[in-house]
Amino acid sequence: MSAANAPFEVEPLHPMFGARLHGLDLAGELPQPVLDAIAQAFDDYSVLVFPAQRLDTAAQVRFSEHFGPLEKAISRETESGPGLHVSLLTNVDGEGRLVAPDDRKQLFNAANRFWHTDSSYKPQPALASLLYAIEVPSEGGETEFASTRAGYRALSAQKRAQVDERWAVHDFQRSRDMVAPGLVDERVQKMLPPVARPLVRVNRRNGERALYIASHAVHLEGMTPQASRPLLDELLDWCTRPACVYTHEWTVGDLVMWDNRCTLHRGRPWDSTSERRIMKRTTVIDTGYDSEPEIESRRARAG
Ligand code: OGA
Ligand code: MN
Repeated sequence: MSAANAPFEVEPLHPMFGARLHGLDLAGELPQPVLDAIAQAFDDYSVLVFPAQRLDTAAQVRFSEHFGPLEKAISRETESGPGLHVSLLTNVDGEGRLVAPDDRKQLFNAANRFWHTDSSYKPQPALASLLYAIEVPSEGGETEFASTRAGYRALSAQKRAQVDERWAVHDFQRSRDMVAPGLVDERVQKMLPPVARPLVRVNRRNGERALYIASHAVHLEGMTPQASRPLLDELLDWCTRPACVYTHEWTVGDLVMWDNRCTLHRGRPWDSTSERRIMKRTTVIDTGYDSEPEIESRRARAG
């Protein structure tokens, strides 16, 4: 099924990337050709918004699993059932009270305010994240997206030569240290050692190249963090300049699915002392990562 006869209407969100897909009920049965058309739109647009959904945890997990196996939420290792694969982003506690902004969990989530791509630091990086809005504040709490594919496309030939075939080291701890040093305990540090990733990712279906940068990127391989900072910061600023950003203003029932290989995102603040925000996230593992050309050739070199 091509996009032209897909059973949904595509409304572009931004001149460079992003689309709202109208007319789909993701909790219902979706025939394979429809799923294929969604996967195609995902590769084309990088950020998909599905408005007016009604998804319980099981339905969100079921839809997400069409795109690959799901990550386990870090805090949920001991649970079983669909909840195992869902991260709850909330400022409301079990008793329905608003949680103080300096609560440890809130600080952890505060790292979402920096431009990042999900799970670049995990042993297997993430393909897609799917975030579903259950309750949203009346003001603020938007999520901003930037396309690092558009960012790469707009680089000069000289700059491309500087980034192609470079690798960067990603470390979960860096993004948390940016909020409050010592936030990551030893157990999690051990679980998530720093990992090298190509600075440019290549989409396996359409060959599109994208910068792979984030708040988790500590340094370029073979360089100190200090010497790496100017280029990493320059690339981040370049990709996130205002003309290249799509701001998603949430409506309850929105499911937003983004491509972690070629976008950055960050959450915007809201008055969390007076307004509730409850979101659920599922994250699809990028099982094809190891077959990207740069990763294969590095593995071959390593023997
Ligand atoms: C995430 C994330 C930002 C937000 O769920 O990965 O970064 O706006 N969320 O909640
Ligand atoms: Mn995120």
